[in-house]
Amino acid sequence: MALVTTTEMFKKAYDGGYAIGAFNVNNMEIVQGITEACQELKSPVVLQVSKGARAYANHNYLVKMVQAAVENCPDIPIALHLDHGPDFETCKACIDGGFTSVMIDGSSLPFDENVELAKKVVDYAHAHGVVVEAELGTLAGVEDDVNVSAEDSSYTRPEEVEEFVDRTGCDSLAIAIGTSHGAYKFKPGTKPQLRFDVLEEVSKRLPGFPIVLHGSSSVPQEFVQKINAHGGAMPDAIGIPEEMLREAAKMAVCKINIDSDIRLAITATIREYFDAHPDHFDPRQYLKPARQAVKDMVAHKIVNVLGSDGKI
Ligand code: G3H
Ligand code: 13P
Ligand code: ZN
Repeated sequence: MALVTTTEMFKKAYDGGYAIGAFNVNNMEIVQGITEACQELKSPVVLQVSKGARAYANHNYLVKMVQAAVENCPDIPIALHLDHGPDFETCKACIDGGFTSVMIDGSSLPFDENVELAKKVVDYAHAHGVVVEAELGTLAGVEDDVNVSAEDSSYTRPEEVEEFVDRTGCDSLAIAIGTSHGAYKFKPGTKPQLRFDVLEEVSKRLPGFPIVLHGSSSVPQEFVQKINAHGGAMPDAIGIPEEMLREAAKMAVCKINIDSDIRLAITATIREYFDAHPDHFDPRQYLKPARQAVKDMVAHKIVNVLGSDGKI
């Protein structure tokens, strides 16, 4: 199967009450770990690339690695998506350079400027057979060195979504309901909460329209404990409880973004490995179990959180 857009996979996910995992890729082991799990479980997947990933690994390397995964995993639909596209030029470079989906992130702009920028990207993308995710509302957390404090974050205003989707023509909409980027999503001792009422109101106003959740890592405590037990320092790392994500996946949420859990799986595995094998220095020795940890984590999400197994 060639690379696909997200249109068909989102429609099936919406109708089927499950969600597609959108996992960030930065190197070969991450691409392999994710796609091997998806191939074995017959799950569609979005592989997404941030501005930082393009700067780290280079656009061409990432596209070619994803193309190799498509060849190696012939059964499953794979979309290649730009995560948090910061401007028209980056979106255009990805549309021209083999991506099937882009996000234009104008969420920090005033409403009319967000609309104008998203529409410009949509017009170019649609003319080239590429789909567009846009965002309304602001998440807290860090992405590409932009740090949004919890005070400056804001929930999506449901009364704005119809006009936004109408005027931009975007294909999916990321909303802010209390998730945030990174490994520190809630204050220790507080009860994790998401605004399901906002999600419900948005989906009432946009029937059948795919909604996207960013900042959806669960920060598995087994990884945090392993990191802390082997020289790391991540006290109070807390994520989104899995049952909340399952709930969202049954609703209008068709795409769930996960990056931090990949980072944690790799870091926990490598820290433990180095402690056990202080004399090893061949990267293949420690990257092999790290890749396996990514695969196991993704498989767990597919089966227990997303519900996308067998949905090709
Ligand atoms: O939403 C942000 C993603 O986790 C990507 O992170 O910008 O550091 O690559 P990054
Ligand atoms: P996490 O930091 O929760 O993994 O979120 C990733 C994300 O939203 C990528 O766009
Ligand atoms: Zn994000």
